[in-house]
Amino acid sequence: MSAVPAPKGGACHGVRHVAIIMDGNGRWAKKRHLPRALGHQRGVEAVRRVVRAAGEMGLEAITLYAFSTENWRRPEDEISALMGLLKRFILSDLDEIAGNNVRLKIIGDHSAFAPDVVGLIENALARTAGNTGMALAIALNYGSQDEIARAAAKAAAKGPITPEAISAELDTADLPPLDLLIRTSGEVRLSNFLLWQAAYAEMQFTDVLWPDFGPEQLEDALAEFATRERRFGGR
Ligand code: FPP
Repeated sequence: MSAVPAPKGGACHGVRHVAIIMDGNGRWAKKRHLPRALGHQRGVEAVRRVVRAAGEMGLEAITLYAFSTENWRRPEDEISALMGLLKRFILSDLDEIAGNNVRLKIIGDHSAFAPDVVGLIENALARTAGNTGMALAIALNYGSQDEIARAAAKAAAKGPITPEAISAELDTADLPPLDLLIRTSGEVRLSNFLLWQAAYAEMQFTDVLWPDFGPEQLEDALAEFATRERRFGGR
């Protein structure tokens, strides 16, 4: 048993669901005169570190913005590098993810990806579907306005459109409410990510570039969250 008392609310400080806009891979590479693809590669290593740490800290869900509906506008070679990294990540990390009782989830519409990528994703989803530990939600071909529009259409087909009815149809409906949204690399905007879910989330913007983000930065973010007073519109 550790002699150091656990922080209030456990290592996760009462945070259930964290989402991250993983930004700055390109600038990380540029600073070092390296190709952008290498920045993304280091970004995947940060994903691996952070997912492990999030599970160990006891988070119930972590949602990562990996590919937006706007990212299709990037040069073809960068898109194909990102797809290659996603495939390699699934191939190399699925055993560990599944073994750690993590449930993989995709938000957005991954059916637009190449058939081999879709096949790998579907297999990973099926393999981890029964897991009861942390949910790892990866946003792929995701745009929040598109998600809200799809949810509103589904809600309308079932009955009156209310906030609860829309929430129940969002891609994140089976995840706990979003507590904390982090964006790396000094940009201060949401870029069409979890706009609805962020209604009462705390936000943190850090200058750290995503490839430099790791367990220590996640821990700091959760500790900073614990100092905030959340009122959800009340007083
Ligand atoms: C932002 O950096 C990052 C992305 C657009 C992609 C994020 C993807 C990964 C971290 C790798 C794939 C993910 C998984 C889950 C395997 P940027 O290129 O916009 O950086 P910049 O703003 O500095 O140019």
